[in-house]
Amino acid sequence: MQVLSALQWRYAVRRFSEERLPAGDIETLVDATRLSASAYGLQPYRLIQVDSREVRKSLLPHAMGQDKILHCSHLLVFAAETDLGEHTVDRYMALLGSARALSQEAHAGMSNHMKTVIAGMTPAQRTGWAREQVFIALGTLLTAAASMGIDSCPMTGFASHGFDQVLGLIEQGLTATAVCALGRRHPDDDHAGLAKVRLAASDFAQVV
Ligand SMILES: Cc1cc2nc3c(=O)[nH]c(=O)nc-3n(C[C@H](O)[C@H](O)[C@H](O)COP(=O)(O)O)c2cc1C
Repeated sequence: MQVLSALQWRYAVRRFSEERLPAGDIETLVDATRLSASAYGLQPYRLIQVDSREVRKSLLPHAMGQDKILHCSHLLVFAAETDLGEHTVDRYMALLGSARALSQEAHAGMSNHMKTVIAGMTPAQRTGWAREQVFIALGTLLTAAASMGIDSCPMTGFASHGFDQVLGLIEQGLTATAVCALGRRHPDDDHAGLAKVRLAASDFAQVV
């Protein structure tokens, strides 16, 4: 689909059909999300695919009554890292070193720069920064899904702490930050076909 048609076609689905998406489509979407941009390329988050019906049922009490987490085909939880630090930079530098040739000097310079930036943040700012990166990846996922004609609903209407406990995220240094339900819109979803509500282009974008 052309990008603007895809973005007009997509909407935040409130009611999903029971249709399951092919596994290959989900693999493509996870890979598209993995390729998302992030600040310094640090990717300070993980993507958790919740296939288990039992686990989804355990998440429901923490999802503000949004039972689409049960009915959607696939449920993806974005979990931000809560322990950003020097090890995060070391992990990236190791990947960088194996992907690209880099002089020792350039390597040390980049690494020190990133470590200094992170050291200058409070723990809350570090987690906030990791959470910001999640939303970029969420946007990538939504656009990729729309371009493939796959329906989605981005969600932050859930209690992070409850999701963290059910998914065992706390001990992994992660916290649930955003959720994306994927599947096919139900023929009776009353949000399907509603006109988009957006700022006019002239109010939205400025040229100076
Ligand atoms: C970060 C984020 C969180 C959202 N959380 C929810 C949610 O918890 N439940 C829901 O039904 N829709 C949620 N939405 C969907 C928005 O309400 C929807 O995108 C917005 O009203 C624009 O409509 P459209 O996406 O259908 O064009 C969320 C969207 C975003 C981007």
